[in-house]
Amino acid sequence: MIIQEVAPRDGLQIEPTWVETDDKVALIDSLSNIGFTRIEAGSFVSPKAIPALRDGEEVFLRITRKPGVIYVGLVPNARGAERALEAFADELNLVMSASETHNRANMRMSCDASLAGFGGIVELTRHTRVLLNGTVATAFGCPFEGHIDEDRVVSIIDAYLALGMTGITLADTTGMANPRQVSRIVKRALGRVGPEALTLHFHNTRGLGLANVLAAYEAGARRFDASLGGLGGCPFAPGASGNICTEDLANMCEEMGIPHGIDLDGLIALSRGLPALLGHDVPGQVAKAGRNRDLHPAPEYAVAA
Ligand code: COA
Ligand code: ZN
Repeated sequence: MIIQEVAPRDGLQIEPTWVETDDKVALIDSLSNIGFTRIEAGSFVSPKAIPALRDGEEVFLRITRKPGVIYVGLVPNARGAERALEAFADELNLVMSASETHNRANMRMSCDASLAGFGGIVELTRHTRVLLNGTVATAFGCPFEGHIDEDRVVSIIDAYLALGMTGITLADTTGMANPRQVSRIVKRALGRVGPEALTLHFHNTRGLGLANVLAAYEAGARRFDASLGGLGGCPFAPGASGNICTEDLANMCEEMGIPHGIDLDGLIALSRGLPALLGHDVPGQVAKAGRNRDLHPAPEYAVAA
């Protein structure tokens, strides 16, 4: 399984406390050193929309680029793409919602306008080595519109591929997905893109995050977004809350014998530093409970003679 760490972007975008550029850079550098091959390191959106990530360029220019790690920047429009290119992002993550209403709430434009903008970004990047990933946000449900037609999700995948994007992400922005729905949509998506090009992005808003991961995995998906400590959420989706938690996912994988390449002890140590950085508790479970193999001394009366 490939786990893409999204705490520096999805995780921090909703935080009310300003995280200093130095601290963002240190976090990303630490993530680079514990085995991630893909890190979403920031976004290039309007600083009025997401003030917490307004230092995107500085972050990208100051991190230590570890060879083999792809540093991704979220991009909403051509202006964002220009900024991301100037900051040497390796991959642009172009985001549009399946829900017209959520796209207007989040991106302040219609889906048609988003797609037209992405067409321009494809042109802009044609002679560069930058990778393009297309995210379908609210792919499993919308906090405004509710049900999202599965055919619509598939048609957006087709539109992204027709534009020439090489990666596709299906995002459950507010944790409305369920495992059977995930299994169905993943199978349809994998009819169009290989497992190396498909990422699932789940939020644990209704407690189904890891159940959805397992359903997607069993249906053939191999790439997942996750956020250290379970941070995250879209500020333009009412009730949004954290992504699936990276160390909880890594722990599940280890218990199930699914290789993932991340140093779980390193993850737990980093996650335990988050409350001091952000000033509040974080939702992840394993950093609090410990790994399965972190055993406790038995009370004396329970020790067999
Ligand atoms: N980066 C920085 N500034 C940008 C920008 C970008 N990518 N795109 C637009 N702007 C600036 C414009 O220059 C303009 O600045 P000004 O007010 O100083 O003149 C201002 O933002 C408004 O530009 P406009 O094109 O009218 O944008 P908008 O207000 O319609 O907003 C988006 C459109 C896409 C820029 C904005 O909705 C956005 O950034 N959304 C992203 C939200 C997000 O990150 N959600 C979570 C992740 S999914
Ligand atoms: Zn998200």
